[in-house]
This record gives sequence, C-alpha cells and structure tokens, in this order.
Amino acid sequence: MAYDDLRAWIAALDRAGELKKIRTEVDPILEITEITDRVSKAQVGSGVHARPAGGPALLFQSVKGHPGSQVLINQFGSARRMNLALEVDELDEVAERIRAFMDVKSPQGFLDKVKMLPMLAEMGKFFPKTVSTGPCKEVIKREKLSLLDFPILQCWPKDAGRFITLPCVVTRDPKTGKRNVGMYRMQIFDEKTAGMHWQRQKIGAEHYRERLRETQPGTASAVDLMARTSGGSQLPEGTVPGGKMEVAVAIGSDPAITFSAIVPAPPDVEEYLIAGFLRQKPVELVKCETVDLEVPASSEIVLEGHVHLDELRSEGPFGDHTGFYSLEDLYPVFHLSCITHRKDPIYSTTIVGKPPMEDGWMGKAVERIFLPLMRLTIPELIDINLPVEGVFHNLMIVSIKKSYPGQARKVMNAIWSLGQAMFTKCIIVVDEDVNVQDIGEVALKALNHIDPERDIQFMLGPVDSLDHASRLPNYGSKMGIDATRKWSTEGFSRPWPDEILMDEKTKALVDKKWKELGLE
Ligand SMILES: Cc1cc2nc3c(=O)[nH]c(=O)nc-3n(C[C@H](O)[C@H](O)[C@H](O)COP(=O)(O)O)c2cc1C
Repeated sequence: MAYDDLRAWIAALDRAGELKKIRTEVDPILEITEITDRVSKAQVGSGVHARPAGGPALLFQSVKGHPGSQVLINQFGSARRMNLALEVDELDEVAERIRAFMDVKSPQGFLDKVKMLPMLAEMGKFFPKTVSTGPCKEVIKREKLSLLDFPILQCWPKDAGRFITLPCVVTRDPKTGKRNVGMYRMQIFDEKTAGMHWQRQKIGAEHYRERLRETQPGTASAVDLMARTSGGSQLPEGTVPGGKMEVAVAIGSDPAITFSAIVPAPPDVEEYLIAGFLRQKPVELVKCETVDLEVPASSEIVLEGHVHLDELRSEGPFGDHTGFYSLEDLYPVFHLSCITHRKDPIYSTTIVGKPPMEDGWMGKAVERIFLPLMRLTIPELIDINLPVEGVFHNLMIVSIKKSYPGQARKVMNAIWSLGQAMFTKCIIVVDEDVNVQDIGEVALKALNHIDPERDIQFMLGPVDSLDHASRLPNYGSKMGIDATRKWSTEGFSRPWPDEILMDEKTKALVDKKWKELGLE
C-alpha cells in the first residue's frame, strides 16, 4: 500500500536494509556531497563485470550548523530502491499498467461496460483530493522567515551557493487554471529569496510566460517575452511593474509525488494525478496559506511565495547532471511569503554530478515508464536505452521493427518532436534484433552498419539548457545515426553479410563436453 509520507518511506527503506543512519556530524557545505558521491559510485561485481549499485539511502542526523535537523539523500539511488519507491518488483510493471489503461477500447455492449467498472473504480483512486489540513501545517510561519533555517547543501566547490535540489515546484496555468508540479532547483540568495531555475521549455516557465502575456495584453510580442526568458537581460516593453506569479514549493513527501515532479508529462496531465496513479491512492492536498495553490498535505516543508514578473537574476554556476558546472544565466527570483512545516522536518535532497548518481536511477525509471507512451506515436519502437553517461538528453539508443525505407529517420524525427525527448542530442536507431541494453552489442552492430556520410542525419532545434557545447544557449544541432541494415529500396545495392552465429548442433555437442574439457 502507498507510503503515507516521507517518514513512512524512510521506515520502509530501513526495514528493507536500504537506509544508513549517520550520527557523525557532517557539514552541508560540500561534505555531504563527497560522502554521497562515494556511496553513489558503489559497484557490484568487479573488472569488466562491475556495474553501478548505488549504495544505500543516507539519513544524516547530525548536520553542522543545524542542530536537530536531519537530511535524507540518495532515496532513489539504486534499482531496488526505485522499485520500492514505486512499489513494484520491476519498473516494467508500471509500464504494463499504463499499457492496460491505454488498451481500453470503446465498450461494445452491456457486458463490456460491466468489465470496465473495475478499471473505472481504479481510475477514481488517481485523482487528488483536497483535505482541510495536514501534517505540513504543524508549524506555520508568516514572520521571521528564513530559508537559511534549513540544512540546504552547497554541493560542489564552484557552486554559486546553496541549492534546494529536490523541490516540487507548484504553479498554475493562468489561462486554464491547471496545476503543474516540476522539479526545478532553487539557489538560495538570502533568507527570503531564491533562484527559480525552470528552464525555458519547461511548464513552470510557460506558466510564467503566460502570466507575462496576461499582464501586458497587446503590447510586447510573444517573441519579446521569449527573449526575456532566454538569457536576454532586457525586460520587454510594457511589463507591468509589480506583476507577480504565485509559486509553492513542497519538499519531502512520499516518493511517488517527488518522482512525479521529474516525469516529463504533457502540460495537461497534472503530476498529482500521475502520483495517484503510481501510488494507487489519491494524493491528499492542502491549500496554501498565502497563495492560491495546493501542496501535498504530508510534505515535510512547504515554501510559499511569488515570482516577480519584472525581475531576473543571475543563477549558477551549479555542478550539474552532465558532470560539468552549468553556466550562470538569468532566471526569475522566488520571494518567500510563508513557510509551513512538520515538527522537526526532515530535509530531503539530492546531488547531481558525474554519473552514476541518484538521478540516473530516476532517469531509468522514466525511460521504462515512458516506453509504452512513446509507442503510441512511434508504434515500431521495440526498446529504448538512455545510458546514464548520456545524462538523459545526450544519447538515446532505440531499436525498431523496420518495415519501410527511411523508417529510421522517421523515428528520429518523431523522437525530436516528442516532449522533452526533443532535447536528445544523439539518437542511434538499430534493428529489432539488437539488444539496446547491451552497449557492447550496440557499438559492434551500429559501427559496422553505418556509412557515416550516408547514415548520419543532422537536425537543428531546441537543445537542453544544460548543453554547454551548443552554438547558442537552448539552440543547436542534434544527430541521428541510422544503424539499421540498409535495404535495396534505400539505394543500397551491395549484399548484406550474415551475422556469425554457431549452428545449434555444434553448440549442443560442446555443451555436453563442456565439463569434461575442464575450462570452467
Ligand atoms: C534532481 C533533478 C533536478 C532537476 N533540476 C531541474 C532544474 O533545475 N530545472 C529544470 O528545468 N529541470 C530540472 N530537472 C528536470 C525536470 O524536473 C524535468 O524536466 C521535469 O519533467 C520538468 O517538469 P515539467 O515538465 O512539469 O516542467 C531536474 C530533474 C532532476 C531529477
């Protein structure tokens, strides 16, 4: 059954032997990162068989400068913990549930309708419900507020300061009223302000642009507005001074909610609904005190405030997912108006940096869960792999069932048109018989199968804000490699060689003799 809150999740981790409590005093400035990084890099096996294991989740119980505070980190940092978080034995179970829901056809008769009832009842569990109060209201502070009260980490030496790294940032679309929950880091500027690092193409940033459009009807063009949130330092003409957008930030909830905030869901699908689907129990929400937004009732810490529409401030550098520092850039500023929290709140956080790290396991979960959804628009997809070294956006390997000439390129274009998959810098398309999870096999077959000049497709378009090599921030080139077998209908006139495979008879013969050969 669903975890009620972060504490129930921590208890479950402890029971599963997946939690290490640390009582030695540690510094939130750099030291927690160094410890967590070493733990994240733990491996099982050795030599060529070594693979990342992620180490345990860590609960630091004595944090320098924050007596009585506790810091939870690496909660999602292994395959087993990611499964535990989503309460499955294998992530494919979640994909299977999604597939089952998508398979629903229009009922043909009474019996069909009756058969759909359990599914409809299950769907009823997904929708969030608003309750009158909850544990996150145990302490309500409207005065003497300070973000510095929390044991927020400075992760890496050249980071611009302390960063909240695992916040669920709640905003509302001013046009449709729909909520969004996104995970966008927040750099602490001082007691009451923090950077709001929603990247240009994310939904929080779009809500912000909608508010801008709303406050200056008919004046600045949409292009100006985009420029303002794309690294331009000029405020667009006509910006209403004092215009605001409400924001709430929930930190520390049950794992399904935290995970939902990173899921690249379409704008119209609310993350609270996704969390309800994942945990199979509605998310309980409470209304904020000072803004018209709702947050999970069980949150450990809630920050309420505003982003001013006429203010941008330099944010970063920050040691990022890529293994490099993301560069300074202009982002909106969050102004704190109220803090509510549980008594003795547990501060939940993560670090990002050179992979493998906790976020790599979260990315893998997204990969598994999104495969059936990607198949809706790309039905020929067999499997996908986003290797952790590709840091989400740099590399996607896909296998396809190829049925017509040029299909690999069609698949590339479809991926570049699909939500946040648009950021994928390099796509390798292979035939269905290649196991994309086996990088060795992919390298062997892909490199053998390409004539680079013929098989590489370049594309210009939006790229991830974290890409430090693109010609411009957020805009650059992408590459697709068609590593499928080439067909005569694609202009390939030479014969294609057979793959070397031993025949079954000889294999069986050697199997029988294997022990006797003493080669084990
Ligand atoms: C640990 C972690 C930190 C992240 N930080 C940011 C960030 O600072 N800014 C950002 O735009 N996306 C960040 N992301 C990625 C977004 O959370 C992700 O793209 C999500 O789908 C955005 O939500 P949205 O689609 O509702 O905008 C982060 C992801 C993880 C796992």
